[in-house]
Amino acid sequence: MEEKILKIKEELISKLSSVDKEALVLNLKGEYVGKKSEIQDLLVSLKDMSVEDKRKYGSLINNTKKELEELINKKLEEIENNINISFDDTLDYEINNGSLHPVTIVAKEVTDILKRMGFTIVSGPEMESEYYNFEALNIPKDHPARDMQDTYYLDNGMLLRTQTSDNQIHAMEKYGAPLRICAPGRTFRNEDVDASHENTFFQLEGMVIDKDISIENLMYVMKCVLREVFHKEVEVRLRPGFFPFTEPSYELDCSCLICGGKGCPTCKNSGWIELIPGGMVHPNVLRAGGIDPEVYNGFAFGIGLTRLAMMKYKISDIRVLNSGDIRYLKNFDMK
Ligand code: DAH
Repeated sequence: MEEKILKIKEELISKLSSVDKEALVLNLKGEYVGKKSEIQDLLVSLKDMSVEDKRKYGSLINNTKKELEELINKKLEEIENNINISFDDTLDYEINNGSLHPVTIVAKEVTDILKRMGFTIVSGPEMESEYYNFEALNIPKDHPARDMQDTYYLDNGMLLRTQTSDNQIHAMEKYGAPLRICAPGRTFRNEDVDASHENTFFQLEGMVIDKDISIENLMYVMKCVLREVFHKEVEVRLRPGFFPFTEPSYELDCSCLICGGKGCPTCKNSGWIELIPGGMVHPNVLRAGGIDPEVYNGFAFGIGLTRLAMMKYKISDIRVLNSGDIRYLKNFDMK
């Protein structure tokens, strides 16, 4: 028996030394430790042996099988480590560098400044429930404010979020008060596509909840954001607005940087672009997020990231941003 076992081992060692391909080693694995291997037969034969023989050969056969497996695995490892990737560094080829998308660039600029002000970046689902997209934001079923946003409703009872404001509720539920979050993300509306409307666009939601927050705090944050993105003071105007989730609400417009305020299709000839709506968080929204409006208050804003990119890079047609047209997009470089 000892001799037989020794022979198996020697045979395997000699065969392993003459192969250098993984497939061949795997063949040997089948032959020497597989179901039909000699060592396996010996293992099976143990049950018919006398108690004495079992004691004598049991551990010898078992240990040998382990040894054979180890020899095979070692060889496989050796082959793997020896794989040589040849790389011809004299080959002449053109490198086509990509660039970040304009929306990605402004999103980074806005989140960078907000991070420095202590905001945490969060994100939420693009497929959202009516509750988070509308109800919890103080827009109950059948409320006319739902008509402000032409929504894609899905067959499964969910919808494609029309705004990043859903993150306000998710964040309040998750973190409670006090809170400083910003949430960049993709949003969807059933729009007639033209130079300034797309069915898929990007927003960035911001929310601050604390004690004694005022609209002054909001204005300060907005000014810092715009200075960071445009590297200069841009002309802005504030006018009253309406959003069910803020009270009071306002619209912050910036002078259209495409036409210099003269009027063009992008600004619908008004000379102004709606850029950052916002306001003081409505008490119902705080309650929906589990925060006591008697103790805390706060502000929220929604930056149109797509619009911001258009203003920054003087892109007159929103459609190029979703076009994936490299010739256009490669004009932007993040340096
Ligand atoms: N979600 C709004 C929209 O898409 C934008 C907005 C307005 C966000 C006011 C806010 C806000 O946080 O306070 O039109």
